[in-house]
Amino acid sequence: MSSAAAPWWRSAVIYQVYIRSFADGNGDGVGDIAGLRSRLPYLKSLGVDAIWINPWYKSPMADHGYDVADFREIDPLFGTVAEAERLIEEAHEHGIRVIPDIVPNHTSDQHAWFRAALAAGPGSPERDRYVFRPGRGPDGSEPPNNWVSSFGGPAWTRLPDGDWYLHLFAPEQPDLNWQHPEVRAEFESVLRFWFSRGVDGFRIDVAHGLIKHPELPDLPPRRAPVEGQPARHVDHPHWDRDEVHDIYRGWRKVADEFPGDRCFVAEAWADTPERLAAYVRRDGLHTAFNFDFLMSTWDPKELRTVIDDSLAMLGSVGAPATWVLSNHDVVRHPSRYGRPSPARRWVANDTYRAEGPLDFGLGTRRARAAALLMLALPGGAYVYQGEELGLPEVEDLPESALQDPIWERSGHTQRGRDGCRVPIPWSGRTAPYGFSPDDATAAPWLPQPAHWAEFSAAAQTGDATSMLELYRRALRLRRATPALGDSTLTWLDAPEGVLAFRREPGFVCVVNLSAEPCPLPGHTAVLLSSGPVEGGVLAPDQAAWLAV
Ligand code: NOJ
Repeated sequence: MSSAAAPWWRSAVIYQVYIRSFADGNGDGVGDIAGLRSRLPYLKSLGVDAIWINPWYKSPMADHGYDVADFREIDPLFGTVAEAERLIEEAHEHGIRVIPDIVPNHTSDQHAWFRAALAAGPGSPERDRYVFRPGRGPDGSEPPNNWVSSFGGPAWTRLPDGDWYLHLFAPEQPDLNWQHPEVRAEFESVLRFWFSRGVDGFRIDVAHGLIKHPELPDLPPRRAPVEGQPARHVDHPHWDRDEVHDIYRGWRKVADEFPGDRCFVAEAWADTPERLAAYVRRDGLHTAFNFDFLMSTWDPKELRTVIDDSLAMLGSVGAPATWVLSNHDVVRHPSRYGRPSPARRWVANDTYRAEGPLDFGLGTRRARAAALLMLALPGGAYVYQGEELGLPEVEDLPESALQDPIWERSGHTQRGRDGCRVPIPWSGRTAPYGFSPDDATAAPWLPQPAHWAEFSAAAQTGDATSMLELYRRALRLRRATPALGDSTLTWLDAPEGVLAFRREPGFVCVVNLSAEPCPLPGHTAVLLSSGPVEGGVLAPDQAAWLAV
């Protein structure tokens, strides 16, 4: 870390806990707080600075917790508020900070506000906290506009009383009206509720979606991006509207009321790095996910452009970069990198599956190299649970097991995101691989593949060639190496297809994305490499950290 005085979030490695798939403490087949607490020693020995926990609030689970019925309650599936408090304390004792998810764009249709809105009827003040509108057409039977749900189908549902309500995601996730002062006040109060229980920050779901164009105009016809042309911002009626930053200026003030460095990370999808940087200005949020990095293919030019643009734009507003390779919404990256086509294919769906045979060995070599690249870049990084085990996407879940609302909403044309959410293998030869206790009463909520024993944390521990030991060593070295974490990089001359950069003092990272072996630049020691380095030469799809 470059400076002892810099806030922790400028260089943190944050581990994403998809709680329902991390560790099951009570044997009901679903991960929970008890399971997470039991695995804190594992996370400490892995060497992460913080955990981001996907939504754990009371929820009917139409979108696995992203449909929140009560932001001040923990869902009984996961535990209680008292257990959450204990988890926060214990994590802190292990030196691990805790960042829950907050979901401000929508609530569950079971939230007290939405139930009150339904009961109160058209034109009532209760409906004003959401986005209710009459329909179009003579009898109002057409939706108010042509917006579409991110999960497929129209973004509007009609009620028996004739009103329509907006849901940019599932119908069970009605969008809130952020022009309403009570909505603003309520979320600031929820932030205070959890900040005062010790959380160190929040990951903000759909941070770019809260403000809608007041007139709710139709979406303009979609223009496909032009190959080779830089991305540009297009005014959109519900994504990334300028007024959203006003909300976050208020949130920043709330965070600043609390001692310590509390922080926000935005899940914000923006057209350009400039637009993304607007979320993390000094009076706004602290950091944002870098989805351009996640979506980049294993291509040296594309990666270098993303890295340069991210560092330049975020640096221009004084924010640190963050780097992420996988999360609970995308195909796990060893499977992405093991596919031949260079096309962007980050969503787990049929298009992805049809793209040709998987060379998982290749994908794994690249994933190992990508980990060393990501962890050597300036700023912070995210590790999605199971990434440190090198887990593949589970592409052959039986259709009867699929639970992601995308599967139903797409009329069974897109399988959705379940393949990256399969419960983690911890130990043992057969399912549930230590995910649930021995006396569990239910099988894991998604079936684990029969060949997953080799991926378990226990099987990999102590095996110097394993993904887990690579992550452990990399995280240990990252902590011990003053050049890593926040600050800058300098690119070095390197052969075609090779990325090489220097961090001060005395550190070089080389990643060989070419098809040829490449000689390592001068160094005093190879600190770590993603595969064997022989004769001072780095094989294709490998990376090395050097002391210089
Ligand atoms: C983004 C989350 O990452 C995703 O899992 C969720 O389905 C949507 N937001 C809706 O809340």
